[in-house]
Amino acid sequence: MPFRFWSLMLICLLAASAQSSPPLRALAEKRNLRIGAAVEPSLLLQEPKYAQVLAREFNLVVAENVMKWGALQTSRGQYNFAPADLLVEFAQKNRMAVRGHTLVWHQQLPRWMYGSFGASEMEAILREHIQAVVGRYRGRVAYWDVVNEAVGDDARLRSTPFEVLPDYLEKAFRLAREADPQAKLFYNDYGAEGLGPKSDAVYALLKGLKEKGVPLDGVGFQVHVDLGFSPRAVRMAENLERFARLGLEIHITEMDVRLGGSGSRTERLAKQAQVYREVMRVCLGQPRCKAFTLWGFTDAHSWRAASEPLIFDVDYKPKPAYFALQQALQQP
Ligand code: XIL
Repeated sequence: MPFRFWSLMLICLLAASAQSSPPLRALAEKRNLRIGAAVEPSLLLQEPKYAQVLAREFNLVVAENVMKWGALQTSRGQYNFAPADLLVEFAQKNRMAVRGHTLVWHQQLPRWMYGSFGASEMEAILREHIQAVVGRYRGRVAYWDVVNEAVGDDARLRSTPFEVLPDYLEKAFRLAREADPQAKLFYNDYGAEGLGPKSDAVYALLKGLKEKGVPLDGVGFQVHVDLGFSPRAVRMAENLERFARLGLEIHITEMDVRLGGSGSRTERLAKQAQVYREVMRVCLGQPRCKAFTLWGFTDAHSWRAASEPLIFDVDYKPKPAYFALQQALQQP
């Protein structure tokens, strides 16, 4: 009981001070860090509060869905850019950078991509898509997740419609570089945050690409985790350091922390805050870690809404996790 009372008091106090303390983006800018959130552009129009909190707190956005292949090129050669355009315009108006997500992925592909194509036709498909999409946002999308989740949970390359084309990973990066020479090009994945077989496989893949001279600038770690995640236990800092030594920029790209588990709600919210704090501290401790992005920002709109994984609650009130990030950003 006393624990609950005092933690409640603390949360009230922190909530009261939230108005006066600077927003996350102001704190992040001082640390030369981008702080971002995944966005559904339709909500920018539907919910004034969504747009308002997003613009106040973040200096980076990523499209949660609208820049995926299936959303952009619904049938061959037919593009729907309107939602992605809306997001890019919102970002420009609010002085935010944009991460493009994503060009080569085994999910959310349009049905027509599962036709039987030969290598040269697949190469044409890849070229047309990358030229159209990366070309359209040239100079406005600062970072592209060129390849997403190519390594499976068994640490081997996944099977995808792209694989009829030998070296499709390499080709995707080269085509993206041609389409926008200024954009930084990323490989992005989940489950590679700490040391382990999957991370070893991603490391080997990226090292090989670098050695071949493939234009790869960075690696994204998604960090979709739960309350059991401990950066220390999986040696996340050490893992990031080995990728940094490949000369790669590092981004935390899709962080969310599922709230499920045992213990009181207050305890679980505190634990969730701790996981956010620890990952932020790992990023701040790594000179090449330049962006920290959440997969959404309010529990009202999350792909895992039931597990309340984000830093604002359904009413856009900051949760303990918000204050944890605020504190971590202010700590020397
Ligand atoms: C998710 C979106 O959040 C959902 O809305 C969609 O239904 C499925 O995809 N890794 C990624 C993201 O790289 O693109 C995924 O986004 C979440 C896991």
